[in-house]
Amino acid sequence: MVGSGGREHALAWKLSQEAEVVVAPGNAGIAQDVECVDLAVSDFEGLLNLCRTRAIDLVVVGPEDPLIVGLADLMRAAGIAVYGPGKEGARLEGSKAYSKEVMAAAGIPTARFGAFDQPEPALVFAREMVASGNLPVIKASGNALGKGVVVCNDLDEAEDAIEMMMLDREFGDAGSTVVVEERLLGFEFSLLTICSGQDYYSLPVAQDYKRALDGDRGPNTGGMGTYSPVAAVSADMVRDAEEKVVKPVLDYLRKEGVDYRGTLFSGLMVSQGKSYCLEYNVRFGDPETQTVMRRVNGGLLAALLAAAKGEPIPPVSISDEAAVTVVIASGGYPGTYRKEVPVGIPQDLPSNVKIFHAGTKFQDDSLVSSGGRVLGISATADSLSEARLSAYRVCDKIEFAEMHFRRDIAASSV
Ligand code: AMP
Ligand code: GLY
Repeated sequence: MVGSGGREHALAWKLSQEAEVVVAPGNAGIAQDVECVDLAVSDFEGLLNLCRTRAIDLVVVGPEDPLIVGLADLMRAAGIAVYGPGKEGARLEGSKAYSKEVMAAAGIPTARFGAFDQPEPALVFAREMVASGNLPVIKASGNALGKGVVVCNDLDEAEDAIEMMMLDREFGDAGSTVVVEERLLGFEFSLLTICSGQDYYSLPVAQDYKRALDGDRGPNTGGMGTYSPVAAVSADMVRDAEEKVVKPVLDYLRKEGVDYRGTLFSGLMVSQGKSYCLEYNVRFGDPETQTVMRRVNGGLLAALLAAAKGEPIPPVSISDEAAVTVVIASGGYPGTYRKEVPVGIPQDLPSNVKIFHAGTKFQDDSLVSSGGRVLGISATADSLSEARLSAYRVCDKIEFAEMHFRRDIAASSV
């Protein structure tokens, strides 16, 4: 497993029930569950050597960055089975402009958009959109850790966002191309689909809370909490999303000669009864995965291995239980925050709670923070309401200066 976040903790924890797992580089929490090797996700040579010396049967790549720059291609060229798309497939996440172009070409329902590499035409497009009674969303086309999206409430905000990305270069090169798209209203859900190039299999739907503060206020983050199942999303809606959003993009890629093996994460919005694709990601969601892994009984390894080998995907066994994950973040996240803050975790956890570490490390034998999202408190129970109560009981026992978390994860759904 390549990566070091909460998503990788959840995947490694689940896979370790079925296989021997080594994580590079991992984090303090992952190291409590499985072996970690101190290799950066960008150290491709080191990772390749590790695969050879340890005779690794399957590499699961957690984050998008190494996929976007071709880690999976390199491993495949060396004859190693990899779960994660190659560089070409990873463009779906690496470039939002490309992703929207693919959606348009493949007839996938998505918000109307324009892509611009100059500020002036972007500003004109946004002004026209507002004049016609719609609000714009401004997106840095490149990869900006889930923070490069500004959902605007008026034209001023849109103009500021375009200037911030294209002139002030707040997200560096990620903002040299900007997507301006129509703001849709509705509710969102995340669909994680295991793809083998020929076949696909969707895991249970999860709902993510993207905004930093309760009541969906504050800036966009990587995700502050998730729950599953999502009652508002029926089996029919999932099938519809697979037919209209998942299958066409995989067909399109296949026609382009792209053999997509890995997770296709569709970020969907249901607006007036219809599902629209807001974005594709080319890896598991974080913190969706923490919640979804709590509902997996078994069969994950077989599914990922089949996908990596381009074979039909055997179904994963899913429990009927509900799961809720609450993210504990550093003070200031998603803006600037302090690192190396001591983190206190209760010793005795109830058996239905698992803490997934996202940004932690050991410093002189004590646990400290090392990122914006620090922990994911993940609980399962027969009902969502019990699962959320269990998760919050543990959140209240976490001690960590300036920490913050949302109080309303899964609240309106129980
Ligand atoms: P993205 O990274 O493209 O998924 O955008 C991050 C978040 O911004 C999404 O999860 C939505 O909450 C919001 N968002 C993105 N595009 C739109 C849109 N067209 N309309 C409304 N909200 C959006
Ligand atoms: N939680 C959203 C993401 O992983 O992009």
